Formats: sequence, structure tokens, C-alpha cells
Amino acid sequence: MSRWGRHKRQEEADAANAPAQAEAEDAQVSAWRSGRPKEKELTIDSRLTLRSGLRMPRFGLGTWQAQGGDCYQAVLEALKVGYRLIDTAQMYGNEAEVGRALQELQIPREEVFIVTKLTGREHGRVAAGHALRESLEKLKLPYVDLFLIHSPRGGLLIETWEAMLHLRDAGLTKAVGVSNFGPQHLRALQALGKELPEVNQIELHCGWHQKETVACCQELGIAVMAYSPLARGKLFGGPLRQVAWSGTEAGLCIRWALQKGYVVIPKSVTPERIRSNATVFQTSLDAVQMEQLESLDRGLCTCPAARAMDLPWAEVADRKPKGKGKGNSQPQARLPTRGETWVDALR
Ligand SMILES: NC(=O)c1ccc[n+]([C@@H]2O[C@H](COP(=O)([O-])OP(=O)(O)OC[C@H]3O[C@@H](n4cnc5c(N)ncnc54)[C@H](OP(=O)(O)O)[C@@H]3O)[C@@H](O)[C@H]2O)c1
Repeated sequence: MSRWGRHKRQEEADAANAPAQAEAEDAQVSAWRSGRPKEKELTIDSRLTLRSGLRMPRFGLGTWQAQGGDCYQAVLEALKVGYRLIDTAQMYGNEAEVGRALQELQIPREEVFIVTKLTGREHGRVAAGHALRESLEKLKLPYVDLFLIHSPRGGLLIETWEAMLHLRDAGLTKAVGVSNFGPQHLRALQALGKELPEVNQIELHCGWHQKETVACCQELGIAVMAYSPLARGKLFGGPLRQVAWSGTEAGLCIRWALQKGYVVIPKSVTPERIRSNATVFQTSLDAVQMEQLESLDRGLCTCPAARAMDLPWAEVADRKPKGKGKGNSQPQARLPTRGETWVDALR
């Protein structure tokens, strides 16, 4: 059987098993959270099942501030080591480099999970469609796996969220989600009766546990994706040293977040670090170590983007974004009709 045939068969088997796997994983994650021994080990290939049934890798590479050749090399290295999720964003200006690395390695499209994010300048019904189309051109992909609203700060959230759902239905992304959304933003979407995001990507690490937002996401069935999982290096050489751990401090941070059940995306452009960050699957944390890390929560905010989580819903629900994105300057286009793609509608 061809590689593609084998892959299709595996996908069908996975789809048939999805609910059972989701249940098994729920039990597994609660065991990991408490540091109890596990029947099934976490691996670099571990995935969680989103509400829609889409399987999302638990571990991936962050690319913020990875530019040009550095970004290209980092993505190449990560994919060779076995990372299967790459997190980029329109704002990072490196989607073309991510696309170049993907093309170079020719990994079957279905095996990699590509996340990009809508920049705040392109909020709005029409602009969001233009912006995703541009991302796909840069990435040289027919679709991304997850498209996130990067931040509530871009405003016009109600119509932007509706546009995101429309883009998902049109097949340009497998799933849609948000980033830097606080509980008040998620609850407002719920109160409006909107389909809820499948993922919320927030700053989350040993120094900031985001308990309220995590609890809200868990209640609403939204997967939590932990960004800046190394606290951008701010915890290194400090309280992490109190925990007996044979690996690196970076590894300790990553392992903690994985055992808490989050999707984790450490960034590095350094080949040795990319490789060493992926060795966290060899050792697990026990209940005592997890408890020690539990006590390090200081509400340490290391990324200015995270402050958008506190914006009042009334300020971002239908306020226009600041500045003018390229998409917003395009002539107004209609929404695609059934069976039509965004590309058709925007022509
Ligand atoms: N949605 C949002 O608003 C948002 C905001 C921030 C981040 N993110 C996403 O989350 C990803 C990760 O967050 P982040 O980049 O802010 O920070 P991070 O992953 O917490 O930390 C990255 C920093 O740690 C260093 N590093 C990596 N591995 C290391 C190791 N083993 N030992 C020592 N230092 C190590 C990196 O240096 P080198 O690269 O020089 O190796 C880099 O300076 C981003 O890249 C981005 O994809 C999203």
C-alpha cells in the first residue's frame, strides 16, 4: 500500500476511535496533572482531540522573533527532530520562511499541523478573508490547521469571529480559535450563542498558571495552548532550581505544561535547544515535583500581548481596529455563497 493509502487508512481508524481516544486522554491528562504514574507515556507524537474531532499535536515550535534564514533553519531542524506543530502568525512576518521549510522537507500535508494568526490590523468581515488568503500564499498551503484571532485588541470581534467560522466552513482552515482572550471575551461569545473557539492560546508557564482562564476554557471545551512556556527565560536561574530535575530548566517548564494537559510551543532558533527541548518525553515529573511547581505561580506576565486579556468586552466587541490593514483597504466584497471559495468571492 502507498504511503498515502496507509495514511488515509490510519486517518479513518483514528476518526472511528476519536471519542474513545478523547475519553482515554481525559483520564490520562488528569493523571498527568496530579503527577500520578501513567499507563500511556507522552511522546512527541501525542495529540489531543479538539471538539470537532481534529487531532492536534501537544508539542510544537514557536516562531515569534524567528526571522529569515534563522526561522527557515529552525523549522527544518524541528521537523527533522519530529516536531509536528509549527506556530506562526501574520504579525511575525515569517510565514514564507515556514512555507519554504515545509516545501523543502515534503512531509505529507496531513502529518503537520500549521497554526497562524490573524493580525489585529485585519479584523473585520472582509479583511480577515483577504488576510488568510495571503497567509496561505506565503505558506504555499491550501489550508492551515488552526487559524486564531491573535488578540482581542484588533476590535470588531463579533464580525471577525463570524468571518473566522465562515473561513473554516469554506475549507481554508480546519479549525478556528482565539489568542489572548480572557474569560469575559469567551463568555461574551457564549452569551451571544456563537459557536465557541476550539483553542485559546494564552501566556502560560510555571510563573503564571492562568487558573481562571484555564478553568473557563475547560468548562467551555476549549483547548488551552500555552505560549511563552519558558517564560521567555525569565524563570531560569531562579526558583525552578528548587525542583530536583535531571534535565534543563527549559525542559522542566515544558514537561510541567505538557503534564498539565496543555499544547506547548517553546520557541528556539538554536539547533541544540530545539533538539534538547524535544527530549522532555524521556522523563516525567512525579506528584511532589508537580506540587513544587504549583507553588511558583506569581502571575508573571512576560509578553505585552497578554495584557489584552483584560480588555473589557464592550471596548472590543464592535470597535473598529486602530490603523488600516491592507485587507481593510480592499474594495468591499460579498461573503462566499455555498460551494464557493473565498478566492471566488473576492475575485
Ligand atoms: N499569541 C500570542 O500573542 C503569542 C505571544 C508570545 C508568543 N507566542 C507564541 O509562543 C511561542 C513561544 O513563546 P516565546 O517565543 O514568547 O517564548 P519562550 O518559548 O517562552 O522562550 C523563548 C526564548 O527561550 C530561549 N530558549 C529556548 N529553548 C531554550 C533552552 N533549552 N535553554 C535556554 N533558552 C532557551 C529562546 O532562545 P533562542 O531562540 O535564541 O534559542 C528564546 O529566547 C512564540 O514563539 C510564538 O509562536 C504567541
